[in-house]
Amino acid sequence: MRLWKNLIVACAVSLLSAFTASAADAKDVKIGFVVKQPEEPWFQDEWKFADIAAKEKGFTLVKIGAEDGEKALAAIDNLGAQGAQGVIICTPDVKLGPGLVARANANQLKLMTVDDRLVDSKGRPLEKVPHMGISATKIGEAVGQAIVDQIKARGWNMKEVGAIRVSYDQLPTAKERVEGAISVLKKNGFLAQNIFDAPQSKTDTEAALNAANVVLNKNAGLKKWVAFGLNDEAVLGAVRATETAGLKAADVVGIGIGGSDASINEFKKSAPTGFYGSIIISPKRHGYETALNMFNWVSTGKEPEKLILTSGELATRDTYKDVRKQLGL
Ligand code: GLA
Repeated sequence: MRLWKNLIVACAVSLLSAFTASAADAKDVKIGFVVKQPEEPWFQDEWKFADIAAKEKGFTLVKIGAEDGEKALAAIDNLGAQGAQGVIICTPDVKLGPGLVARANANQLKLMTVDDRLVDSKGRPLEKVPHMGISATKIGEAVGQAIVDQIKARGWNMKEVGAIRVSYDQLPTAKERVEGAISVLKKNGFLAQNIFDAPQSKTDTEAALNAANVVLNKNAGLKKWVAFGLNDEAVLGAVRATETAGLKAADVVGIGIGGSDASINEFKKSAPTGFYGSIIISPKRHGYETALNMFNWVSTGKEPEKLILTSGELATRDTYKDVRKQLGL
């Protein structure tokens, strides 16, 4: 009897100490979340959801903006010096891949990427680094389909429409998104010679506006336009350019990718603009889930899946509230 009692007490004590050890561990866990464009609503949303994971689990989240390569490398050193154990990064330049991996190793940091996948010097993805991104081609195709549907709904002649391809081809996910859209346009009879490249120098609205202005000025003969690009900012820039060129909202179909405040603010305007819709993707999965996966990796050693690709859902000014609700946003 006494033996049993001792055994039960011993079990209870070890269970309790295991529990307190893990609670103490969570407090000791520090994870960095580094993003390339901290002012962009998408990245602010990612941080917001990563913060929720940190609060839930009790670890510390360190948010750092790194707009260029030097800052990204410095951010990793900084996290190492602070005793962090892991870092999730959306890098300002995917070609920094091997350099970032080396720097994370030197600082004994576990490394995961989000949104933009690291590549080697030959442009091949670094498959060993766990990554969460969007299914870029598929989402691009959804953009293309939404554009085709609107061209038909508005009764336009497909052959008389111009397309602004706001591009940032040095980033593989950006190229896949626009190429996905183009493949669907072409399948539906859109003329290849009416698709115009508008290369942006930076992935923000202003750079997209400048690039799209050039296309519109050169092709003033076309009176109906569609626009697509890497994200909502790219398409908003193109839509602003069509307004500057004097085109009416009814003659423009822009479909973005994102669904954060950039597009919501546009949908909230009293009259519709040429920004017709956006494929809403999930900052919750990209922020909350990546942070949770990193926390588990640091605290239990369980490495996240090497590649997770997330999906999206088309929303317009009429449907965005419902779509966001469905996605738990
Ligand atoms: C890239 C873009 C962001 C956002 C994410 C989504 O990083 O620059 O605007 O679209 O992809 O994964």
